[in-house]
Amino acid sequence: MKENIEQLREAFLTEIQTVKNLQELDALRVKYLGRKGQLQAYFKQLGQVDPADRPQIGRLLNELKQLFERTIAEYKSRFREEDTGEWIDLTLPGRKPPVARKHPLTQVLDEIKSIFQSLGFTIADGPEVETDYYNFEALNIPKLHPARDMQDTLYVTEDILLRTHTSPVQIRVMESQPPPVRIIAPGRVYRRDTPDASHSPFFHQVEGLCVDQGISFADLKAVISEFARRMFGEDIQVRFRPSFFPFTEPSLEYDFNCVFCRGKGCRVCKQTGWMEISGAGMVDPNVFKAVGYDPEIYTGYAFGMGVDRIAMLKFAIDDIRLFFENDMRFLRQF
Ligand code: PHE
Repeated sequence: MKENIEQLREAFLTEIQTVKNLQELDALRVKYLGRKGQLQAYFKQLGQVDPADRPQIGRLLNELKQLFERTIAEYKSRFREEDTGEWIDLTLPGRKPPVARKHPLTQVLDEIKSIFQSLGFTIADGPEVETDYYNFEALNIPKLHPARDMQDTLYVTEDILLRTHTSPVQIRVMESQPPPVRIIAPGRVYRRDTPDASHSPFFHQVEGLCVDQGISFADLKAVISEFARRMFGEDIQVRFRPSFFPFTEPSLEYDFNCVFCRGKGCRVCKQTGWMEISGAGMVDPNVFKAVGYDPEIYTGYAFGMGVDRIAMLKFAIDDIRLFFENDMRFLRQF
């Protein structure tokens, strides 16, 4: 009898290892613990056992029953956890949390800022909703001046509008401090333009302003050329063209080599080989008068800069609208 009990124990321990799920486990339970099971049969035979051995055999059978019950219960809870998915496989690789990144325009803006900061400029700021006075009047663009036509915009009231350029920050900075001034002012601007590959009704500019005694046109050209080299590399070419702005005299517009064709001429640069960046010039004496600077003592230069255009050049993007569509397939590439 003792041997039979031992065999049953071994058979159970071997068989339970092959059990794969709750159903198979239940079948095994019936087989070993059920009323018609092997263990029960031995309990029934206990009466025929020699009375001297009976207590010992009885104890062995009880121990075996407990072993069956305990082991089956352990397997049961293990299968249950697997069923509810709570079971943890520590060998699986972890889940990667999605990591945010900067918008390509922000990346370019950060780079522009750090270049100018290294050239001694500090960063100024101004409101996007401006008054007619700061956006036009103080910049020597009186009411009914034809220069307003090119910068038609969205008016909040007759006197308040969405700024059409970052130049009003020039006025705000000069009003708030005496010379010398050396600032850049990055920000968003608005114009009533129909969107296409190179136009968006809102876009970004960086204004630059440097005022001191003895500042000349040469300083302006040097700073813009140095910026171009640091931003795009030594072999970038810069072109200055005469132009007109009411708040600078003389005025220029400047272009960088088209990076798509390296100056040969292509669809993006409309076969010119150049990409227009923005305007610049020497601060008009009338602007100095508007802020109370003495134009007989101080001179200065101002420049604009199209951030979106620079980002298009930097990343070889041929449509400005891509920046503002929030399409993750586009944004993820930067
Ligand atoms: N504000 C001008 C524009 O948006 C650019 C400019 C800035 C020109 C500073 C001259 C000096 O077109």
